Amino acid sequence: MPLNSMQDLMIHKLQDIYDAENQALQAYPQIAGAVSSQELKQALQTHQQETQGQVQRLEQIFQQLGAQPGGQTCNGMQGLIQESQKIIQEGGAPEVLDAAIIAAAQAMEHYEIAGYGTARTLAQQAGMTEAAQLLEQTLEEEKQTDALLTRLAEQNVNQKAQQAGQ
Ligand SMILES: [Fe+2]
Repeated sequence: MPLNSMQDLMIHKLQDIYDAENQALQAYPQIAGAVSSQELKQALQTHQQETQGQVQRLEQIFQQLGAQPGGQTCNGMQGLIQESQKIIQEGGAPEVLDAAIIAAAQAMEHYEIAGYGTARTLAQQAGMTEAAQLLEQTLEEEKQTDALLTRLAEQNVNQKAQQAGQ
């Protein structure tokens, strides 16, 4: 779609995020199924549920904009998911795999944080206060998930992975 206005750009960005989230929703069960740390599995499953709410927020915004949510394939998220799948397929020591999966999941979160940050700012600048608030809410959830994954890695998973290699 040609980008002739900031409104076009906002819709383009939102469609991209919408596809990214839907791809992530499809991928989470496989990713959560491959981890051995119960805490990590729980964190991924919780975020999967949270993501369903995030998709609904996006649908609400599309309705406000009178735009369709579909129409974009997010190649960025596609690539990040493929990387996670490759890690899972190649296998290895379970503790090290957990550490690798945290890294892969955080790459997905960082990608989403970048997308939501842009979309939120575009909505703010377009005077779409309600949409901006919805996007800000999701952005906060993504940041909290990222922080939780960092905590799990630092406090637990990485130490166990280190011991596995000795
Ligand atoms: Fe996320």
